[in-house]
This record gives sequence, structure tokens and C-alpha cells, in this order.
Amino acid sequence: MMSSTLNKLLQEMPKAELHIHIEGSLQPERIFALAERNHLTLAYPSIDALRAAYAFTDLQSFLDIYYAGASVLLTEQDFYDMTTDYLEAALADNVRHTEIFFDPQTHTARGVAMATVINGIHNACLALADKISAKLILCFLRHLSEEDAFATLEAALPYRDKFIGVGLDSSEVGNPPEKFSRVFARCRELGLHIVAHAGEEGPPAYIHTALDDLQVERIDHGVRCLEDAALTARLAQQQIPLTVCPLSNLKLRVVQDMRQHNLRTLLEKGLLVTINSDDPAYFGGYLHANFSAVFDALQMDSSHAQQLAKNSFQAAFLPDDVKARYLAEVDAFFAAQAA
Ligand code: ADE
Ligand code: ZN
Repeated sequence: MMSSTLNKLLQEMPKAELHIHIEGSLQPERIFALAERNHLTLAYPSIDALRAAYAFTDLQSFLDIYYAGASVLLTEQDFYDMTTDYLEAALADNVRHTEIFFDPQTHTARGVAMATVINGIHNACLALADKISAKLILCFLRHLSEEDAFATLEAALPYRDKFIGVGLDSSEVGNPPEKFSRVFARCRELGLHIVAHAGEEGPPAYIHTALDDLQVERIDHGVRCLEDAALTARLAQQQIPLTVCPLSNLKLRVVQDMRQHNLRTLLEKGLLVTINSDDPAYFGGYLHANFSAVFDALQMDSSHAQQLAKNSFQAAFLPDDVKARYLAEVDAFFAAQAA
């Protein structure tokens, strides 16, 4: 068992979160409250029955429930309340900066306006801006067409100042990054930051094409990179950040046991690894719970914690001076622990 001192340090250290799907932060209680407010009937009779359905066997079995959960979001207030819930939980874990994914197609396909989605999430971030720094990343659903992604980008452009980048998520296998090369080329022209999920369930080849075809700045997940030694060396050499999500990997059976997680190996090979919660309402916890689970299973120590806290800011889409301030804050925090 990990010491309570280390666990407290993991909780208290300043950190950034770079891989969190806001729709994946909808807790069952909030899903039921929104269903009631919007006069919707859910397929599950109770909060407990819904939670009991969170027994996933792979990514798709999760996505089916995740999209069903998100269907209660209708009004700007709904998006605002969901985002406020997440930001308050992140604050409790001493997250200083967060880059939040949102999936507009999940909502626009149900007739919810792009403005409703973006304004609701963005206004919640603004309301807590003096407590936590939050930026938005629009994700395209890779199981949908390139044409749909282009239409989504077009619909989001009036709100270009409210998101800093674009990503690629949903069903990975069979939907390689290169399916969206032209959309991402357009996004790069628009000056957006670029990330993509790759190497979660999909093969290392998808990490290669995310880097070469989409020209991503970070890889989301990427844990399958170790199957390709040349790719692993490239990620280390170019310091391409990986946003790893330990509890997600366990719940979606990317790893069978947390003790088999390769996060420590990746870190010790010099990759710029970060820890993130992915979909905290579905996978058993927010950011600190992810740190706690993986530190316990892999017997990591405070030097790993310091490295991971620094990596989280290093990998963030922040100006260099702001980044330097956060990095100094992490070092000061750890120096104070040692004193
Ligand atoms: N959407 C939400 N969580 C996801 C994940 N872990 N992988 C792909 N798409 C997602
Ligand atoms: Zn994800």
C-alpha cells in the first residue's frame, strides 16, 4: 500500500489535466437531475441501475453508454452545470489548468445548436476563471464521416475564440487518423492546436499517422507505442506528450491489471507522459484517483510525482512564461515537502 504521505502529496501538488471529455464527467446523479429537468425518461429506473451498467468490456461498450448519458444535455444551462461540476472536482484535486474536450457532434446530431454547447461550457469556465485556468478542445467523432467533421468545423467557426484546438475521439479501430487528414490540414491553417486519440485500442501505426498526417502536437493515450521500438524512440526524442489515462485503460481493458500498466516504463524511457482522467464519472475517479491508483500499483515515488506534475504543465498549450511559472510552482511545492 502507498503511504498516506505520498497519497496526500499526489492530491496537493499543483497539476494540469490535458485529457478529459466533459461529457464523460456527467455523474449519474446529474444525468438523472437533467433528465427530470428536461422531462426525459431514461432507459434505467434508478441512479444505482445506471451505475450498475458501467461494466465495460472494451471502448465501444463504454461509448454506447457514454453517448446515451450525454443525450440528457439540451440547454445551455445543462452544459454549464455539467462543466461547473467538473471544474469544482478538478479544483478539489488541485488542478490549476485544464484542457477540456467536448464532442459537438453528439449534441448537434440531436438538434442542439453549436452555440448552446460551446457557450454553456465556455461560460462555466469563465465563471471560475479566477480559481482554475480552463481551455476547450473540440473533438471530431472519428466513426462519422470526413464530410460531417468539415460541417462541424464550419458550424464552430463563429466561436473560434472559445476553443484552442481540435482532437479526434470515439471508436478508434477501423477509423485511422488519416481519414481526417484534410480536416486537420484546414484546422492547422486556422491556427488551432492539434491532438488525436491514437494507440488506445488501435495499433502503433495509428500513432505514426497521427504524427505524420495530422501533425498532432500530443497523442491522447498512445500506450500501445511500446509495441514499436522505433516509434517509442521517436516519441521520446521529439518529446511528444502522451496523455495517459490509467483508470480508463483498466476499465476498458486496455490493461487487465493496473500492475501491468506501462506508464512507469514509458516515463523511465524518457517519454513526456502525463496522467489524466479521460471520463471520470465512468471510470472510477477524477485526476487524483488516477494518480493514486497507478502510483499504488506501480510503486512509484515522489520523484515520479514531481516529474509527472511538471510534465502536465510542460505538455499544456500555455504560453512559455505561464508554463515557467507553473513549473516553478511545482518545484517550490516539492522543495517545501523536502524541507
Ligand atoms: N470519448 C470519450 N472517451 C474516449 C476514449 N477513451 N477513447 C475514445 N473516445 C472517447
Ligand atoms: Zn479520451
